[in-house]
Amino acid sequence: ITSIGDVQGKHIETIEGLSTDGQLHAVQQAFVDKQAMQCGYCVPGHIMTAVAFARDNPGASREQVVAAMSAHICRCCNYPNILAAVEQAVSGA
Ligand code: FES
Repeated sequence: ITSIGDVQGKHIETIEGLSTDGQLHAVQQAFVDKQAMQCGYCVPGHIMTAVAFARDNPGASREQVVAAMSAHICRCCNYPNILAAVEQAVSGA
């Protein structure tokens, strides 16, 4: 996607729509379980990428997880916990 016009007519998911009946999405729960947020500034982007990646890549390797999340920057440098959360999400645990 390169411009806002590219999403016209497309289904758009946001982090606000992930939880269901007060239950966190599995990826959101993984971020809580693995303490994958500090200031939280980067978390919505990480989680939305992780949701799409986990959906399309169940059982992905650590190398695949690292590659999938590489476009996101966390200024708190909480990468080990973020990667652990995404690994939990793709493992289905
Ligand atoms: Fe602070 Fe990622 S948790 S920028």
